[in-house]
Amino acid sequence: MTDTHSPLTDRPSAHPATPDAGRNLITIASGKGGVGKTILATTLAHALANEGKKVLLFDGDVGLANVDIQLGILPEHDLATVISGERKLKDVAFEYETGGYHIIAGRSGSGSLGTLDSTHLRAVHEELIELGKEYDFIILDLGAGIDDAVRTLASAKGPKLVVTNGEPTSLTDAYAFIKVVTQAQENADTRILVNMVKSRNDGQKVYEKLVTACRNFLQLEPPLAGIIPQDDRVAYAIRSQAALLSKYPASEAASEIEALARYLIRGSA
Ligand SMILES: Nc1ncnc2c1ncn2[C@@H]1O[C@H](COP(=O)(O)OP(=O)(O)OP(=O)(O)O)[C@@H](O)[C@H]1O
Ligand SMILES: [Mg+2]
Repeated sequence: MTDTHSPLTDRPSAHPATPDAGRNLITIASGKGGVGKTILATTLAHALANEGKKVLLFDGDVGLANVDIQLGILPEHDLATVISGERKLKDVAFEYETGGYHIIAGRSGSGSLGTLDSTHLRAVHEELIELGKEYDFIILDLGAGIDDAVRTLASAKGPKLVVTNGEPTSLTDAYAFIKVVTQAQENADTRILVNMVKSRNDGQKVYEKLVTACRNFLQLEPPLAGIIPQDDRVAYAIRSQAALLSKYPASEAASEIEALARYLIRGSA
C-alpha cells in the first residue's frame, strides 16, 4: 500500500509466531462508555503487579485516551511518536512506579490511535502482541463502541473482560460487543465483568440477564469474571487522580479487583 504518513508498515512483520502469542493480553471492553473500563484496567494492572507479575497497561482508547489523567501522571512519551513512526512501542513504555507496572499512554486528538487506518492499527496491535512476550500480562483498556478500530484491537487471543453495570443500554452494548467479537473470532474468550452494583446478588442477576441473551441468541455462555461493587472510594480516587490500590487499598472495590487478578493468574497457569 502507499504510505504517506507513517512508516509503521515498513517495520519487520510482528506477526505472532507462536500459537500462544496474545494469550496474555487481557482486553477490557464494554461497548458502552463510562462503565468503569479504565479504572478497572489500571487497578487490575496494579493488583497483578502486586502479585509479582510483570504487567504492561496499554491505553487503547482510540477516542479519548485518559489512563494518564486518571492516574495523575504526565508521560514523557505517548503513542503519538509510535504513530508518526519515530519510535517503537517498547520505547514509549514507561514505568509507573506507584503501581509497579509499565504503561503505554494514549493520546487524544492529533497523533492518537484514532487517526490510524486499519492497516496501521493492525500493525500497532501486532507490535503490542509481540512486545507482550516480555510481560506476564498486557492489559488493554479499550474505548467505547464496537467500530472497526475497537474490533481490531479486540482481536487478540486472550481473555476479553466485557464490563457492564447492568443498565439496559450497558447490557445491550455488552451483548453487541460479545456478538461482533465472537463472529469475528472463533472461540473468542469473552468473560463478563459486572461493575457498580449494590450487592453480589444484584451482580449475579445482571450476569444472568446478559448470559441468558448470549445463550439464547449466540449459543454462548461467557463465564462470570467478577462482580465489583459500587464504591464511592472509586470516584474519590479518580477525582484525586490517585491509584485506587494506593489510596483505598482496603476498599471493597479494590479487594474484588484483587480477587479478579488472582482468578486471571490461576487461569493463565
Ligand atoms: N465500582 C465503582 N464504584 C463507583 N463508581 C465507579 C465504579 N466504577 C466506575 N465508577 C465511576 O464511573 C466513572 C467512569 O469510569 P471510567 O472512566 O473508568 O469508565 P470507562 O468505561 O473507562 O469510560 P470511557 O468509556 O469514557 O473510557 C468514574 O468516574 C467513576 O466515578
Ligand atoms: Mg476509559
